[in-house]
Amino acid sequence: MTGPEAPARPGREVRRRYTVADLGVLTRDEASRFMPRGDGDPQNDVVLAWELLYRLEPELYDRLASVERLHPGVVGWLPRDVDRIAEVGAGTGRLTMELIERGRHVVAMEPALPLRRILRRKLAAAGHGDRVRVIHGFFDQLPLPGGFADLVVACSAFTPSPGHGGEAGLAELERVCRPGGCVAIIWPNRLDWLTARGYEYVSFPGPMAVEFGSYAEAVELAEIFYPRGADAVRRRGSPTVPFEVLGINPPRDLVYRVLPG
Ligand SMILES: C[S@@+](CC[C@H](N)C(=O)[O-])C[C@H]1O[C@@H](n2cnc3c(N)ncnc32)[C@H](O)[C@@H]1O
Repeated sequence: MTGPEAPARPGREVRRRYTVADLGVLTRDEASRFMPRGDGDPQNDVVLAWELLYRLEPELYDRLASVERLHPGVVGWLPRDVDRIAEVGAGTGRLTMELIERGRHVVAMEPALPLRRILRRKLAAAGHGDRVRVIHGFFDQLPLPGGFADLVVACSAFTPSPGHGGEAGLAELERVCRPGGCVAIIWPNRLDWLTARGYEYVSFPGPMAVEFGSYAEAVELAEIFYPRGADAVRRRGSPTVPFEVLGINPPRDLVYRVLPG
């Protein structure tokens, strides 16, 4: 996965972008999840720094998510022709845009207001403003009734830490899924944690590359998000960069659990 807790992405450059003075952007509910002890410093906490990125530079985050495309096998694997899909941690819609044609009703939950705004704007621009309900929601407190969705999904968002899912979050994903429905976690960061809880692993093979809009964008985004790969990006001189050059695992996998019917 990208973002918080991605082990191959130490996040020095992302951490350097923000200071303690920026923490005021977090709502009380956000602060209680992302700073459970009541304090924090984005300069030495990459998970917190990513939360500030979502709120202070959401367009920058969207540029990154837009070029780190999911393996088509991942999207193709998801059930289609279902009635209701619930997505958690939808961000700016990397997965949401793919869910539209798979379900009659899609609810996209996302805590960060600036990301919800971008997602709504993209849906409207694509003529799907009325197909997806974009609402606020945290993993551990989903604003949906039990058994609501046929498919409950999160992409590059769920982690075992309580602020980003954890035991309570997993229980919530399963609560809002109907009996016989499927919970899927795409681009998981902790396979062992999820497989120990009954989740099955699926991975799709083949080369994968990040398709930046230009060579200049490749250099700019690599310096911020993949500093270990930035020199290699410069040497290659191309807007297309294999994930292994950037030093992160590609978005080619998922875990899932079909709930008892
Ligand atoms: C790396 S982004 C992924 C966004 C999107 N799913 C994608 O694939 O581009 C992680 C997302 O998880 C969201 N998030 C963080 N903590 C969360 C929580 N406790 N509950 C729900 N979403 C959360 C963030 O706001 C952010 O949108």
